[in-house]
Amino acid sequence: MRYSFIILFLLLTSAITLTKAQDLKVIKLPDPDKTGGKPLMQILASRQSSREFSKEPLTAQQLSNLLWSAFGINRTESGKRTAPSARNWQEIDIYVTTADGTYLYDAKTHSLKQILEEDIRALTGKQDYVKDAAINLIYVADMSKLGDVSEEDKSFYSGADTGFIAENAYLYCTSENLAVVVRAMIDRDKLAKKLNLRSEQRITLGQTIGNHK
Ligand SMILES: Cc1cc2nc3c(=O)[nH]c(=O)nc-3n(C[C@H](O)[C@H](O)[C@H](O)COP(=O)(O)O)c2cc1C
Repeated sequence: MRYSFIILFLLLTSAITLTKAQDLKVIKLPDPDKTGGKPLMQILASRQSSREFSKEPLTAQQLSNLLWSAFGINRTESGKRTAPSARNWQEIDIYVTTADGTYLYDAKTHSLKQILEEDIRALTGKQDYVKDAAINLIYVADMSKLGDVSEEDKSFYSGADTGFIAENAYLYCTSENLAVVVRAMIDRDKLAKKLNLRSEQRITLGQTIGNHK
């Protein structure tokens, strides 16, 4: 009797977990448009940080282009990316927080895997504008991918590797006339908990992106 009760309980809880997992979406992004954009020297002449965002969402094409520019695969044969990484460790993951939930960018399939249904944009930074902007990218370094190097080198490499990605995003946003700012002011403990990060995963920076107000 007692055992059948336990089995029933286990069946019920696993059914709830399954239903929950089934609710989470996988969004295949449109192919990135690798043509066009403004000339590089014009982009460099106008790159800047902005902190005023409208609430208007990005289009699927803009999101696709943004993520591919930031850290997409640009050489399918080797799986190498638009930004360099120390020893090609590719340890940075990009979490995308939107009004429709939180997603993890999968460069291999160029898709977004939903990890949370709720809107956690307000939690992604200590400044007021983060909650209104279309998206906040959260850069997360998986330190377990960094091989046998010192803690100091791990921090240095993950910081440097994030910088290249964030700059790629700046350049795309400038070309597309989107507002963008990279951010260190994050309550990392609170956000890591919300994202269910493992102990080897460390939030490096955030980046807020959207249309200009
Ligand atoms: C590592 C790093 C951390 C930053 N953190 C923040 C931040 O938390 N909040 C913010 O509003 N801007 C942040 N910024 C943006 C800088 O304030 C900005 O780049 C600087 O004022 C120069 O302005 P510009 O980007 O328009 O050239 C950060 C920039 C970098 C590179």
